[in-house]
Amino acid sequence: MSNLDHINEENLPKHIAIIMDGNGRWAKQRGKLRVFGHENGVEAVRRTVENCAKLKIDFLTLYAFSTENWKRPKIEVQTLMRLLVASLRKELKTLNDNSIRLNAIGNLDFLPSKVAKELNEVILKTSNNKGLTLTLALSYGSREELKSAVKAISAKVKNNIISEDDIDETVINTHLYTHDLPDVDLLIRTSGEHRISNFLLWQIAYAELYFIDVFWPDFNEQHLVDAIINYQNRERRFGKTSEQLG
Ligand code: IPE
Ligand code: IPE
Ligand code: MG
Repeated sequence: MSNLDHINEENLPKHIAIIMDGNGRWAKQRGKLRVFGHENGVEAVRRTVENCAKLKIDFLTLYAFSTENWKRPKIEVQTLMRLLVASLRKELKTLNDNSIRLNAIGNLDFLPSKVAKELNEVILKTSNNKGLTLTLALSYGSREELKSAVKAISAKVKNNIISEDDIDETVINTHLYTHDLPDVDLLIRTSGEHRISNFLLWQIAYAELYFIDVFWPDFNEQHLVDAIINYQNRERRFGKTSEQLG
């Protein structure tokens, strides 16, 4: 019996988010440049997307590049952008074959025009797909997202489009990059770091957190299945008592 058989299909996390960390250390361990780690990280992305589609997960959000990652050496940033363009081009057919819809969150205005163009093209060409929604967090930072939301809401109050009393959690939600995504159920971080690094702070309010001690390029189907099974063995109480959940 494979480990897959242990997954309860009735209790799948609807939205999995992953902080894909550890490419640089993976390469260093092998005496290679960080770029080599990123190249191998792309394979882990392919694998994970494919596996989530196969497992019938509805939403997968991958942290690919943070607002703070712009501070990395120029050569590394350029390589990451180059890999992104190449993957988008290469994977369009696979996305469509598997009915995967591409989506992106983050301050996309900062992306080089070549990246933005390729990204928008794939988003458009997969927009009618009804399977997995794959969201790439690019030039994404939760604080920047919240700042933009506060600005947009303030402008609406100032222009009398909404009143201060109208501001509730739904209004805040609709002004986030993630407005069309449900809350995160399961957040996975690879590489052994136990931190959030400015990812989806609002959206993970009640997510189950899962930290795994493998570097991202090594993350495989077994690890994903283990994370889901671990998630399924937890009791999500959302503030209530165990008894109330019945
Ligand atoms: C994750 O791996 C990829 C990105 C942040 C783009 P890192 O590049 O952060 O690798 P480590 O954490 O330095 O090993
Ligand atoms: C978080 O990883 C960002 C991504 C995975 C894209 P980092 O490697 O940038 O995070 P820190 O610096 O270790 O917190
Ligand atoms: Mg890192």
